[in-house]
Amino acid sequence: MITFNEKEKTFLITNKSIALFLYINEMKQIETVYFGVYKEDISLKYRKEFEDNYSTSYFDTCKNEFIDHSDKSSNEHSLFEISGHDVGDHRPAPIIIRHADGSVATNFLYDSFSVSKGYPSYVDMPHATGEDVDTLTFILRDEFDPNIVLKYNISINNNHDVLIKNFEIENHSKNPINLLKALSLHVDLDSKDFDVHHFGGAWGYERNEFVNHVIDGEQIISSCYGRSSHEENPFFFLTNKNIAIGFNLIYSGNFKASIFTDYSFSTRITYGINDYDFDWVIEPNGLFVTPQASICYSGTGVDNMSQHFHRFINENLIQYKLNKRPIIFNCWEGCEMNFTTESIISYMKDAREIGSELFVLDDGWFSLRNDVMHGLGDWSVNKSKIDLKKVISYCHDIGMKFGLWFEPEMINYDVPIFKKHPEYVLGLDRAKATVHRSQFVLDFSNPEVVDLIYSQMIEVLDNHNIDYIKWDHNRDIKEANSLNLSKEHKQEFYHRYVMGYYSLLSRLRNRYPHMMIEGCASGGGRFDLGTLYYAPLIWTSDNTSASARMNIQYNTSFAYPLGTISSHVSKASDSSYETKSQLALFGSFGFEMNPNMLTDIEKEVLSKYSLLYKKKHNEIFIKGNLYHLSSSVDGLRIYEVISKDKTEAYILLIYYSDIALNSVNVLPCGLDESFNYKIDMPNIENNGKNLMNDGFLVEINKDSKFKISSVFINIIKK
Ligand code: GLA
Repeated sequence: MITFNEKEKTFLITNKSIALFLYINEMKQIETVYFGVYKEDISLKYRKEFEDNYSTSYFDTCKNEFIDHSDKSSNEHSLFEISGHDVGDHRPAPIIIRHADGSVATNFLYDSFSVSKGYPSYVDMPHATGEDVDTLTFILRDEFDPNIVLKYNISINNNHDVLIKNFEIENHSKNPINLLKALSLHVDLDSKDFDVHHFGGAWGYERNEFVNHVIDGEQIISSCYGRSSHEENPFFFLTNKNIAIGFNLIYSGNFKASIFTDYSFSTRITYGINDYDFDWVIEPNGLFVTPQASICYSGTGVDNMSQHFHRFINENLIQYKLNKRPIIFNCWEGCEMNFTTESIISYMKDAREIGSELFVLDDGWFSLRNDVMHGLGDWSVNKSKIDLKKVISYCHDIGMKFGLWFEPEMINYDVPIFKKHPEYVLGLDRAKATVHRSQFVLDFSNPEVVDLIYSQMIEVLDNHNIDYIKWDHNRDIKEANSLNLSKEHKQEFYHRYVMGYYSLLSRLRNRYPHMMIEGCASGGGRFDLGTLYYAPLIWTSDNTSASARMNIQYNTSFAYPLGTISSHVSKASDSSYETKSQLALFGSFGFEMNPNMLTDIEKEVLSKYSLLYKKKHNEIFIKGNLYHLSSSVDGLRIYEVISKDKTEAYILLIYYSDIALNSVNVLPCGLDESFNYKIDMPNIENNGKNLMNDGFLVEINKDSKFKISSVFINIIKK
């Protein structure tokens, strides 16, 4: 619901759970009067006013005099929805324009507004979709050139507490302008007493949680790797007691969040596409749309924030709707590129036996690809290595779907296009080009290159019955010099590259609407909302050992729903197949090993969890609510999932076997106070209220054979 009070010049944006209350002040700036949990009495009385020392005046160049504005706000201390650059108090501005005369002062001021139903929609980039949504669009004009118009969209959903914001910049002037910074949001918060939680790491160790107090000055959370990256995830959140405010960007490329404080007692957040090597020309009558950013406000803790993000992602972001996620068997960790038609068929047979529903032939099926040195960029089936039609039809005959691996944005030195079109490859204009995993990056900012890869991929996909593709991206971008872009447009590369990625994804989505896509970038190097718009799940990490995955998956699930977290039971030796299966259930379940090597007992264990997945996963793990119950004990993670109707829950305790604990008191969440529950541990039966207040004691079973152990608990209504 969006209400405008014309007399007061205020806007209330609310779904009766959270609210944002805005005021257009005398200076035509949009002030944030209130952002938080909904209250009945939200009004201008919440506005920060600074009488004495802080009242300001301005010089009116038309009237040629100083004007004292009765408005008792101070620029320095007010909270704004957007601040200017080179004006005011120098807090970071979300948008900076270099005008045709070279000046960079930018100040967007209120002009008018409109209200519409639904989210703003864009054909060429991922965005939120859905009904029961109201959008307020402010039209602002640059003080220094009113022909430059900024549309500022704020959307509120009546079913969850995730706000969507972005900007659209239109150049109605006669000259081109340059965007030096084009972020998606500016949020000023009325306190600097927050902890900042962000998720960084490296290949194989993605999404470690780092927590620090808001620092005086500026903290930057960013990527300039050309993708959202292993090193930082675009998701971060702020906490203060029960308040949790989360941020994420619907984007897969370079991003930058700045968390800024000064003497003003507020925290100022700007967030969007990284301005690193970014300089975008908008021609007259041209437009630049910034990716949508999502913000969730929770007054009742972190899990409430996570649950709202999960709902948003499942209901309003992922376009490929799945009634049930199939159990995926991926052959990579089993055989890498060493396979034959016969060995793949024998894998399929055993994979089916343990409950797999979709078989993925990973890297190595094309060109001369038997190692990482060869073949990328030549997506023709290696007929002398594999009879693809035969394995696909066998797979379908035994009741499994079939999937294939691609790495569309990359090229190896030995493929013909490399020689024919060196200008399609990044870095070759240098004396030394960076090679990583023996591969180079194709210039996806050039639509010709995207067309070429598209035509190769559809040649395979049109001629084979393929239900799924895994889309990989195994190196980051360096030497980002597109030979296709003129000097004036050179620094548009990174964003154009991401748009090329989206354009290929959406062309494939449109041509093969039934086909499922799994995202991947050397594991979790592109785990972001932009990718999830096209791909309902993402390979979470190349590290499949339980000791790594217990943290990676746990932390990933603060932002992303369990169904998006692709999680395979592998042959990793740090834990039992029981533990690995239990952990994989807290994700989109699958297998990744040599199935011919499994013993009968191992097959029995894996089949048991496949069965559980098929029976319970959708209702409890996908549609239910997730709680992070972890204590502060290092090396111990505790999660819970509970069905929407609160009749059944699962709790997983996963821990290092040498942990200095013999038992843990587990406090479950989200139970119905009045229900009686039975816990599948001897002698525990109690009602929801007592269980949530007092908890129950769980013995830590240490198995000296393994580094990681687990306890898996089922709670069911009696
Ligand atoms: C990346 C992926 C793996 C696998 C290999 C194949 O590392 O993350 O899952 O597909 O590439 O080369």
